[in-house]
Amino acid sequence: MAISNYLLIFLLSILSFSFLSISTPPGETSSNSYFQIKQQQQNEGPFVGVNIGTDIQNMPTTSDLVSFLQLQKITHIRIYDANPDILKSLSDTKIRVIISVPNNQLLAIGSSNTTAASWIQRNIVAYYPQTLITGISVGDEVLTTVPSSAPLLLPAMQSLYNALVASNLHNEIKVSTPHAASIILDPFPPSQAFFNQTLVSVILPILQFLSKTESPLMMNLYPYYVFMQNKGVVPLDNALFKPVTPNKEMVDPNTLLHYTNVLDAMIDAAYFSMKNLNVTDVVVLVTETGWPSKGDSKEPYATKDNADTYNSNLIKHVFDHSGTPLHPEATSSVFIYELFNEDLRSPPVSEANWGLFYGNMTAVYLLHVSGIGTFLANDTTNQTYCIAMDGFDSKTLQAALDWACGPGRANCSEIQPGESCYRPNNVKNHASYAFDSYYQKEGKAPGSCDFKGVAMITTTDPSHGSCEFPGSKNVSNKTKEVVNSNHTSNAGEKLRGEDN
Ligand SMILES: *[C@@H]1O[C@H](CO)[C@@H](O)[C@H](O)[C@H]1NC(C)=O
Ligand SMILES: *[C@@H]1O[C@H](CO)[C@@H](O)[C@H](O)[C@H]1NC(C)=O
Ligand SMILES: *[C@@H]1O[C@H](CO)[C@@H](O)[C@H](O)[C@H]1NC(C)=O
Ligand SMILES: *[C@@H]1O[C@H](CO)[C@@H](O)[C@H](O)[C@H]1NC(C)=O
Ligand SMILES: *[C@@H]1O[C@H](CO)[C@@H](O)[C@H](O)[C@H]1NC(C)=O
Ligand SMILES: *[C@@H]1O[C@H](CO)[C@@H](O)[C@H](O)[C@H]1NC(C)=O
Ligand SMILES: *[C@@H]1O[C@H](CO)[C@@H](O)[C@H](O)[C@H]1NC(C)=O
Ligand SMILES: *[C@@H]1O[C@H](CO)[C@@H](O)[C@H](O)[C@H]1NC(C)=O
Ligand SMILES: *[C@@H]1O[C@H](CO)[C@@H](O)[C@H](O)[C@H]1NC(C)=O
Ligand SMILES: *[C@@H]1O[C@H](CO)[C@@H](O)[C@H](O)[C@H]1NC(C)=O
Repeated sequence: MAISNYLLIFLLSILSFSFLSISTPPGETSSNSYFQIKQQQQNEGPFVGVNIGTDIQNMPTTSDLVSFLQLQKITHIRIYDANPDILKSLSDTKIRVIISVPNNQLLAIGSSNTTAASWIQRNIVAYYPQTLITGISVGDEVLTTVPSSAPLLLPAMQSLYNALVASNLHNEIKVSTPHAASIILDPFPPSQAFFNQTLVSVILPILQFLSKTESPLMMNLYPYYVFMQNKGVVPLDNALFKPVTPNKEMVDPNTLLHYTNVLDAMIDAAYFSMKNLNVTDVVVLVTETGWPSKGDSKEPYATKDNADTYNSNLIKHVFDHSGTPLHPEATSSVFIYELFNEDLRSPPVSEANWGLFYGNMTAVYLLHVSGIGTFLANDTTNQTYCIAMDGFDSKTLQAALDWACGPGRANCSEIQPGESCYRPNNVKNHASYAFDSYYQKEGKAPGSCDFKGVAMITTTDPSHGSCEFPGSKNVSNKTKEVVNSNHTSNAGEKLRGEDN
């Protein structure tokens, strides 16, 4: 996590990366993908995880930390060591963890197979499979921060891998090493990117190792720094994944691929750099990315608003499964940097303000990630509900209502005659209740508030009077009013709204 000494050199080539739309010549379509990469972990799909740094004055206890992760529905984490307390506390949870070999242990591990084997015994075999360790990140940005250790990197990876093979864990646990973005030169346009030639003698064998072991290329990618170091060239909206008009898309003049955001361009720059070395089957895993929420006077773009926008859009982008322009078939998983503000980190101010939460586990800002499921949804986002949209005729709404209460298995008992949400007795009210019941039951999963376009997500609690909608935070002490005691409620029964 050597953020402070980030050095991104974008040379002048960035100026040739046009932010103006270049129209595709007639008869020529911009090809989406020049080579297909093998999708790894296909069964799992892309995920968003979080990095957990621990330079925090009052670090939560490991058991509080694990409860918090579960509460926030965080399923993937990366830690910067192999903390035994954390690994123990994660056992029998479904949380997957990438553990790390700190840079200062590379020498010991890289120069002795025995040391590597005992590292694997102590930090993996002792916990796996109760603790779902999925990867080892070996060192951190070694080529750029401790170049003297570079010759040890591959030997360390190899000896750890060999030890995993000996325990037959090499298919479950992947070995890789995170790189700084600055090992890639001329990243814009992505098709012209290449690895720093000086480092190729180290990088190429590492890539061949990753290819052979079906492990990802780990990259720490920060559009924040790209934006800060190229102000006036890289628009803020592109750095923040904001929707951009076509004339603000970045067009790669060689491939005619259109880039709407900086992160995708950085990921594709990594793919093109690998392709230059004839490596075409290694996927990119973004081990760090994020945006600081506070900075000093020289960091005016480190704001809560921008951090919220970046991270919320990042999460939506990953869960969209749309990949990058070059590799629409392969969406990179990402780890947000980072879970907690590390208040003990030295200046600049932004260094201590990358977290989604303070060390006391209250949110620094509220993400806007509704519609992507429950990930990070507790406490960090407005509660959302699904209701019927205005402007549709009752026949259309009725069909959607019938589906929700029937095949959709929404709980419609409260809208039966006599129950608390029966009134107002009209199809729009009943449909809203049924849609919301279905949406909450599905964990607000993407697509669960659609109903052929007649439903919409709202942050306003639609509860009214004694009628409490599913998901309502109003824990009222209501005693159910019995309006019509003769009716036996029957979920799934076909409902007919009477007045419209
Ligand atoms: C570690 O083991 C590998 C494979 O058995 C071997 O090729 C290598 O020389 C060993 N390294 C050291 C430092 O002993
Ligand atoms: C390439 O890497 C070498 C070795 O780390 C470094 O000295 C050099 O500055 C890098 N080149 C560029 C353009 O970043
Ligand atoms: C990649 O392949 C091309 C064509 O086969 C070859 O000319 C080139 O030397 C290869 N590059 C590397 C780094 O292996
Ligand atoms: C948590 O920490 C932040 C930052 O120190 C502080 O502003 C906030 O009041 C704290 N919240 C609680 C509930 O202690
Ligand atoms: C959010 O967390 C609180 C405890 O802090 C818990 O009572 C509540 O049920 C959670 N809500 C959701 C939607 O998970
Ligand atoms: C919740 O949503 C409303 C409406 O979109 C917005 O005005 C409000 O700021 C949001 N609250 C938080 C805490 O983000
Ligand atoms: C349906 O909702 C009602 C009222 O909220 C509740 O009492 C009942 O247990 C629910 N039925 C099912 C099958 O969940
Ligand atoms: C909660 O529900 C009760 C009655 O069910 C209602 O009087 C009250 O206004 C509601 N509170 C909020 C915050 O919506
Ligand atoms: C529910 O009832 C209890 C006891 O009567 C009361 O202490 C509590 O404040 C009530 N909660 C709400 C949300 O009205
Ligand atoms: C309930 O049923 C009884 C007898 O069948 C009838 O007299 C009464 O009016 C009904 N009540 C309502 C509220 O419909």
